[in-house]
Amino acid sequence: MKHFLTLTDIQSEELQKILDLAVKLKEEWKAGGNEPILKNKVLGMIFQKPSLRTRVSFDVAMLQLGGHGLYLSPNEIQLGKRESVADVARVISRYVDVVMARVFAHADIVELAKYASVPVINGLSDHAHPCQAMADFLTILEHKGSLKGKKLTYLGDGNNVSTSLLFAAAKLGVDFAIATPPGYELHPGVWSLGEHLAAQSGAKIMATYDPVEALKDADAIYTDAWASMGQEAEAEKRRKVFPPYRIDAEKLGYANADAIVLHCLPAHRGEEITDEVADGPQSALFDQAENRLHAQKAILVWALDLD
Ligand code: CP
Ligand code: NVA
Repeated sequence: MKHFLTLTDIQSEELQKILDLAVKLKEEWKAGGNEPILKNKVLGMIFQKPSLRTRVSFDVAMLQLGGHGLYLSPNEIQLGKRESVADVARVISRYVDVVMARVFAHADIVELAKYASVPVINGLSDHAHPCQAMADFLTILEHKGSLKGKKLTYLGDGNNVSTSLLFAAAKLGVDFAIATPPGYELHPGVWSLGEHLAAQSGAKIMATYDPVEALKDADAIYTDAWASMGQEAEAEKRRKVFPPYRIDAEKLGYANADAIVLHCLPAHRGEEITDEVADGPQSALFDQAENRLHAQKAILVWALDLD
């Protein structure tokens, strides 16, 4: 079963294949439309948290490939509350061809995959956001022409998004630097996995508390919310710690002159990123959001073995 839960489960060659397929499907779409490769296929979309991009891009990806997306809101399934995760997995597998889930605890998506008899795709958990990272690397590839030897710098929280960026970079041979405030580093287990993967691909990775050091030679710079979904109670405390990691015009000046700016969105403008940068000439924020659609088409086709 080809689940897409975290990028560490997937071979580098497979990730490269998914990116190549995303490029091809995007070109096809722009040239007039995709073949209905997912005709009669149904994607079940389970959400424990809100979403704009993930919900709409998966739904539209299914539609544009001839299939159908079924949105299941947090109130409907109540994963693990109304019914056990294992039972939800066994039941939904009898109706749909592939499942995408956005959950709080990563253990829940692992459990879903364990009991599902169809592929399960992680649409964000507290540990990882692998679909986002695929769209992000597609965006870097398009803007920079290649990935190998390029450098991505992330400023902010050591969270699900930065975890998946580290894994994708380390697997795809992209240099990666992360600057976080003390106490908000990537989990040590995540970092050592990243080091292991980077040693295989030759990617150079570094972690620091100094945003300026991290930004040196960056081809792409990235930030995310200071408090993720589920961390609302910490938002006030985090607002005091994170301002030195905000992407503003001054920070952007430490990266390469042609660096692109990325953010998974939703953005908290004025917190982790200024309007000036988010709406400035180096911003690739909305190309990145669009690429969720193209990258996820490729992930769906790959998971269903139709590539
Ligand atoms: N970037 C992202 O996953 O956005 P949503 O939360 O709107 O899906
Ligand atoms: N780190 C953020 C990403 C949102 C797309 C969160 O988990 O809320």
